[in-house]
Parts: sequence; C-alpha cells; structure tokens
Amino acid sequence: MELTLTRPDDWHLHLRDGNLLAAVAPFSARHFGRAIVMPNLRPPVTTTAAAIAYRESILKVMPSGSQFDPLMTLYLTDTTSPNEIKLARESGVVYAVKLYPAGATTNSQDGVTDLFGKCLPVLQEMAEQNMPLLVHGEVTDPAVDIFDREKVFIETVLGPLVQKLPQLKVVMEHITTADAVKFIDSCSEGTVAATVTPQHLILNRNSLFQGGLQPHNYCLPVLKREIHRQAIVSAVTSGSNKYFLGTDSAPHEKWKKECSCGCAGIFNAPVAISLYAKIFEEANALDKLEAFTSFNGPDFYGLPRNTSKIKLIKEPWKVPECISFPFGEIVPMFAGQMLDWQTSS
Ligand code: DOR
Ligand code: ZN
Repeated sequence: MELTLTRPDDWHLHLRDGNLLAAVAPFSARHFGRAIVMPNLRPPVTTTAAAIAYRESILKVMPSGSQFDPLMTLYLTDTTSPNEIKLARESGVVYAVKLYPAGATTNSQDGVTDLFGKCLPVLQEMAEQNMPLLVHGEVTDPAVDIFDREKVFIETVLGPLVQKLPQLKVVMEHITTADAVKFIDSCSEGTVAATVTPQHLILNRNSLFQGGLQPHNYCLPVLKREIHRQAIVSAVTSGSNKYFLGTDSAPHEKWKKECSCGCAGIFNAPVAISLYAKIFEEANALDKLEAFTSFNGPDFYGLPRNTSKIKLIKEPWKVPECISFPFGEIVPMFAGQMLDWQTSS
C-alpha cells in the first residue's frame, strides 16, 4: 500500500543548537518542508536579531540541496516590548511568539510570570500585526496536580485571553486532554487552533510505568489517561481544520533522560510521520491524514501549502535502539520497535 501526501510541515519543533542541532536537524529536514522552531534555547531567543542568527545556524547544518525552511519564533518574557513585535513582523523570518509560563517546562525559567499583568500591550500589538501566540498551556502552581494543569490553564488563562483579545491568533500547543478539545472546538475558526504530537495520540500515562519507569516516554505536558488520548484522536481524525501536525520533537542526550532527574522531551523526528499514519489508519481515517499533516497548518498561518510531495509505503521497519553521534547518543521514540509505515525517497 502507498500513500502520496503533499509534503508535511512541523508546526512545533525543538531543533536545539550546537552539536545537538547538527545531529537532529536532518531527521526533520528529511520529511518536512517547514518547521516552526521553538525558541527555548539557553539563553532563550527573545529578540528578532537572535532569531535571525539562530536561523542562519540552522541553515548552515542542513544537508546540501535541502529546501527545509525554518520558521522562527520569539520567546515571550515579562519585558518583551511591543516594538520587538514590530521588528519581528518586519523581519519576514519570525512567524510567531511562544508563551512559556515561567517554570512550566525545559528552559522556561525566563518565561512569563503574569500574562495579563505584564504582557497585555505586547499581546495587543501581536493582534494588530496578525502575529500568532503559541501557548504552552499549563499552569505552574505546584498546588495543582500535574495531570490537571492543562485544564486549569484553559479555565484561568486561555479562556479569559480569548475573551479579552478575540482578534489574537492563538495556537494551543501539544494538546493532551478532552478539555482542550472541547475548548478548541468552541472557539472561532481561523483564530484558535491546536497542534497535536504523535506521543499524545498514541500513548497514555500507563506508558510511563510499563514494566518500570520509562524515561523516554516522559514529556511535558505529561501523558494523560486513555479517555483523553481517545478524545484527541477523535478530534484530529474528525476532519476539523483546527488541528494540525506539531511533533514537539524534543531531543535530550541519553544520559540526560536516564538519570536521577531526567529531562522532559521525546525525540520523535525519525518516527513522527510513520506514527501519524498509524494513528489515522487505526481510526480508519487515512483520507483525513493529508489535511492534518499538510493543509491545516499553512492555512491557519496564512502561508502557501507545499507543492512537493512525499510518498509513504506500508512496509515494516525497525526503529533504531539509539542514534549515535560523535558527542553522544539519543534514544528515539519507539526505539527498537517495529513500525509499518515508512517514507520512500
Ligand atoms: O517535553 C517537553 N520538552 N516539553 C516542552 O514543553 C519542552 C521540551 C524541551 O524543550 O525539551
Ligand atoms: Zn515543545
């Protein structure tokens, strides 16, 4: 069996920098035309000038002949100025601004402490400039149970934000719950959308503890109950144009995952397309796959759809146990397991 798809884009990707960037970028460039590149480096990408420099360093490590186009983002802080948004828009290379609530995840310590108190003028400028806000949708209050943090964020931040600034384009990133699906479905089309990762579509929270602690299935937002997984599978396979592909591929070296305080993040770039195909096939919705992977994202961002194609063939392959680089190793999602779908070049 074969499937031909318009070349997909990845609307949520961590490419890192330095050695790690050079090691992981080719895995995304192989399948995807474009990617929204997350700004949570150390230090974070908070200015247009830094985003331009980061883009150059990504292009430098691309395999020769690659057409991969990195779409840059800015990291929102309490002190981001409205003028920075104007510069971002004028640059032509910054496509969105990312909101990390301070302390929510990897390298979020410089994130926002009080969105409505500190960032309203910037958000107003973003609405004016038609610059989307990409949201890590979890509260950080340690008193809130980690499995409820997305739901509480929707109730206390995202809902009020959409009410206050109905013109602002918002992408709720890597949704994990039925609550998020309900919220996205209730919002107006073209203004609020969501990305969905392969891990949140294929795994539930049992995968964190299957036969022992599984650090390579640990990401944030953390995997949820099976009923939530089913709700997001239904949402993406329904044909709604509010949902699109965002892998949240987030590589960490093996030793940073397999230790006493492991990092959050799943390196899924080598398996993402294969897993999305599996999910849509199992839901009897392969006819809806291409809109999710290749149309809904660019349509939301107001960008042209890709014109080139990729071919998927149903032929079993084994995911490597580990990917070795001169400086270390990374364990991919589904390491050592068999998958059905692969891309043919
Ligand atoms: O699991 C995650 N890893 N979630 C995030 O939000 C950040 C990411 C990372 O950068 O490692
Ligand atoms: Zn992410």
